[in-house]
Amino acid sequence: MVSKINKKILLAVTGGIAAYKSAELVRLLRKENTEVRVVMTRAAQQFVTPLTFQALSGHPVATELLDVSQENAMGHINLARWADMLVVAPASADIIAKFSHGIADDLLTTLYLASECPVYIAPAMNQAMWNKVVTQENLKRLEQHGINIIGPEAGDQACGERGYGRMTEPVDICAQLITNKPTSLLQGKSVLISAGPTREPLDPVRYITNRSSGKMGYALADAAIAEGATVTLVSGPVSLVPHSEVSLVKVETAVQMYDEVLQRSGFHDVYIGTAAVADYSPGEIKQKKIKKHAEQTSITLYKNKDILGAVASSTPRPFTVGFAAETDDLERYARGKLERKKLDMIAANWVGKDVGGFEDDKNALQVFWRNGQQTFELMDKNELAKKLIALIAERMDEKSTT
Ligand code: CTP
Repeated sequence: MVSKINKKILLAVTGGIAAYKSAELVRLLRKENTEVRVVMTRAAQQFVTPLTFQALSGHPVATELLDVSQENAMGHINLARWADMLVVAPASADIIAKFSHGIADDLLTTLYLASECPVYIAPAMNQAMWNKVVTQENLKRLEQHGINIIGPEAGDQACGERGYGRMTEPVDICAQLITNKPTSLLQGKSVLISAGPTREPLDPVRYITNRSSGKMGYALADAAIAEGATVTLVSGPVSLVPHSEVSLVKVETAVQMYDEVLQRSGFHDVYIGTAAVADYSPGEIKQKKIKKHAEQTSITLYKNKDILGAVASSTPRPFTVGFAAETDDLERYARGKLERKKLDMIAANWVGKDVGGFEDDKNALQVFWRNGQQTFELMDKNELAKKLIALIAERMDEKSTT
């Protein structure tokens, strides 16, 4: 039985090593009963041949603005009219600059100007090019013009560098296109969460810890998964079981948590520090059980490194969200931490009052960012997690570049 074609997609491939991934995108899109026609820029053809895309799409590939044979087959205006959506993947810094300024000096840029359908672009470029102010300005302009931007992701790059600029995986691009808008608020995004308490050992049988249950962090992990994110949870000792799709990293001490978080944070889009990290640890862990002799004793504690602050100051950095538990002067202390630790957002809650918190199933939060705030009244932590994830998804584009 021949299935009905439900979308006509014009896929434009521009120059970049990620061009090879777009071959897979064509295959995935066709599996979704779409008809795909491909346009390639000259630079794209340096990476993959038009023949590859012709074979995968089942149609000749358009490469030239004024090509007699291709104009006969389907001229650029007709091609623009034919499409239900124009998808540019990978979208180079060059094409982003041209689109944002209305330059039309080849087939693709002309098609873009002639198109009236929704346009999606999946940027892919070196991290320094991505971070350049002019590239970000161009993207902002395109967003204001109604262009949908998919990705990019952070990670290792073909050039050997690390950072933002990797094209979103074809399977995630396909999911967004088929449902016509990000189905889920964090589709294609990666979220790193720290949760629970840490345990700072004194000797083989004793440790210093706190009352954190980990519930908020685990609820946030569930909520992020539900919104399509991939989630890594670095968790201190708790009695909770994470969602089956969560990648769990178990730790005990603040030092272990620091190491596990910092080696991953550069590869994630969002970091949420819900963990109640011990601020201090004993300098020395006794090999043998400490015996009671003296009437009084004392332990010297040493300050731990601040995980949240280190994540927020690293490069590349994710959208960084901290937590603060306060007994008084909540806004002043929370905003102080936001500034001092250079966070993008901080979620603060009262402790020591009858308002939920550490071991409770409920919590209330006041969330602050540089120019705003939002209050979430006392509610179940799962509900609260959904609201906070939605707020993070909304605000993460505001990630400061400092
Ligand atoms: N945090 C961290 N690493 C630490 C300590 C705290 O990442 N070594 C994070 C927590 O995960 C939380 C936030 O920092 O997101 C809490 O801020 P912090 O200033 O440590 O709070 P308090 O310990 O309550 O500090 P203060 O005594 O200043 O109120």
